Amino acid sequence: MYKIAVIPGDGIGKEVMEATLHILDASDIEFEFKFADAGDEYAEKTGIPLPQETIDIVKQSQACLFGAAGESAADVIVKLRRELDLFVNLRPVKAYPGTKCIFDDVDFVIVRENTEGLYSGIEEYTEDGATAVRVITNKASERICRFAFEYAEKTGRKKVTAVHKANVLKKTDGIFKNNFYKVAEEFTEIETDDRYVDATAMFLITHPNMFDIIVTTNLFGDILSDEGAGLVGGLGLIPSANIGENQGLFEPVHGSAPRLAGKGIANPSAMILSAVMMLDYLDENEEARKLEKALITVLRENKVVTADLGGDATTMEMAAEVKTKFVRE
Ligand code: NAI
Ligand code: MG
Repeated sequence: MYKIAVIPGDGIGKEVMEATLHILDASDIEFEFKFADAGDEYAEKTGIPLPQETIDIVKQSQACLFGAAGESAADVIVKLRRELDLFVNLRPVKAYPGTKCIFDDVDFVIVRENTEGLYSGIEEYTEDGATAVRVITNKASERICRFAFEYAEKTGRKKVTAVHKANVLKKTDGIFKNNFYKVAEEFTEIETDDRYVDATAMFLITHPNMFDIIVTTNLFGDILSDEGAGLVGGLGLIPSANIGENQGLFEPVHGSAPRLAGKGIANPSAMILSAVMMLDYLDENEEARKLEKALITVLRENKVVTADLGGDATTMEMAAEVKTKFVRE
């Protein structure tokens, strides 16, 4: 029995969460779901977007499923990442059948440092403008690189590429690159490589298959992972994991999509794939493959799918179809 915190949040976050829980209900694995509040709607009622009670519920759980917040996203998800020290942002970029992809065999993972870099929050006005401080530490660089190599070992991936701009950002990215090669010495079975971020941005479009795992600093990872989303069919399909020493939080990359909200037509795939990542995190790999396979079948058949995938099914109709295949697997 796993204790799972569930934060549906706002807009389509609530809808894709309901759809995903409906499918997990058919799992052989037992979950105890503990619902927690956060987001715009909760803030309208109470004045605070993320109550301490929610942070406590997440801390007492083995994993957390998060839907989406609206305008309060920075106060909710960024705060949760900090409170729980979720130092890894893991985003698989994988082309599924039946979706609009530039290439149909893309399959790589971006491991983004989630706590420092140019998002350190240290910004100040100067006499003529402003400056932002790009914080790169040995500690955070080493732990994110170690995570990337351990993740490669665990998932059978063969190559880790460090992405940086050490030719210009000599000190900060020099430290990042040094830590990468220091950690790499412990993982001799895995191929290593490093590239500049600007060239990487181009190669992701022209030769995405040269990448297996990319490990990079906060801002570069943020930008490259949205580029990755564009490569494989858009926001309705992209899950993510935020991982710390003792905690994992799994969420679709998309937000509350106010224009879609309330209509029941959002694509639940990104949330379902976030649940797949949660199952893998809990080492329930067999169940993860079962759920992923059920979704892939529905995507490939392209019959009972939502409007963004060319169909006319509702969120819950598509979820019911995935559930049917999941039970049969
Ligand atoms: P968004 O991701 O909510 O939506 C952008 C567009 O992508 C939508 O209009 C829709 O066309 C499409 N889309 C997104 N998810 C979809 C799905 N599941 N199925 C089908 N189409 C989908 O981003 P936007 O519009 O920039 O932000 C809306 C709100 O969400 C804002 O208040 C923002 O602050 C918040 N947000 C929250 C995030 C979080 O909680 N982690 C992340 C990103 C935005
Ligand atoms: Mg982003």
